[in-house]
Amino acid sequence: MEDFRNILAQEKDGVLYLTVNREDKMNALNFATLEELREIFDVVIDNKSIKAVIITGAGEKAFVAGADISEIAELNEVNARKFAENGQEIFSMIENCHKPVIAVTNGYTLGGGCELAMACHMRIATANAKFGQPEVNLGIIPGYGGTQRLTILVGRGKANELMMTGDMIGAEEAKSLGLVNHVLSTKEEAMAMAEQIIAKIMSKAPLAIGMIVDCVNAVYLSEENGYQTEANSFARCVKSGDYKEGTTAFLEKRKPVFKGE
Ligand code: COA
Repeated sequence: MEDFRNILAQEKDGVLYLTVNREDKMNALNFATLEELREIFDVVIDNKSIKAVIITGAGEKAFVAGADISEIAELNEVNARKFAENGQEIFSMIENCHKPVIAVTNGYTLGGGCELAMACHMRIATANAKFGQPEVNLGIIPGYGGTQRLTILVGRGKANELMMTGDMIGAEEAKSLGLVNHVLSTKEEAMAMAEQIIAKIMSKAPLAIGMIVDCVNAVYLSEENGYQTEANSFARCVKSGDYKEGTTAFLEKRKPVFKGE
């Protein structure tokens, strides 16, 4: 993967490590960083050697402290809609990616940062992580899918409270609400947990993992019947060599070797 200006991208053993790297700006997402995310996920979707992605923020203070307010301050009604639609599109690419994407959130995970974390398939937080949607303090609302994904994750009442007050919550509360999967003391431990989960997923059938992403996302699509998506996806799995391998290996009492075919 080529070098980017605002995101460090490093591939190791099938895992692509992405670090939002604007530490002096609390890793705030400016337009350029968002476009880099788009370029990266365009590659991730088709690249055979990348099996999973971990996204984190540089330094100890912030995962991402929101969209870049210096750019938000210049918006008008016309480009504000494009601003939101563009961010939504990029975060949907992450949410719909057939390879597991885990956010390791350290420190401030606010606004667009919380929205980025919520677009990932799972979130692992450090104990010092703080989550919030403080857009009301700026006279705006979340625009990168936050009003939808936060409500899905924590329910209507708590989502309303968090977005209307702009309050931040700590990692343990975020976990109790279902916003994060695990809380670990340090970033190293949080990364190790993410790697452990990814290693387990990478030992499973890749096509089935992609089908799980589609089916889980179908729950939230009003135009789609999730049960139908599930039945269709189930049938697609049965067409694969991995299905033959998984069932045969079980019956032969050996470990399956999946090829993603
Ligand atoms: N956009 C642009 N710059 C940001 C930013 C954002 N979302 N969040 C932080 N920064 C910048 C600050 O402007 C400051 O830059 P400077 O050193 O050039 O002045 C730098 O990051 C450090 O932030 P600072 O506010 O000095 O750190 P702090 O520890 O006092 O406070 C926060 C940390 C995260 C609580 C505070 O920066 C904040 O409230 N940020 C905005 C959060 C937000 O509203 N996000 C939603 C945006 S839609």
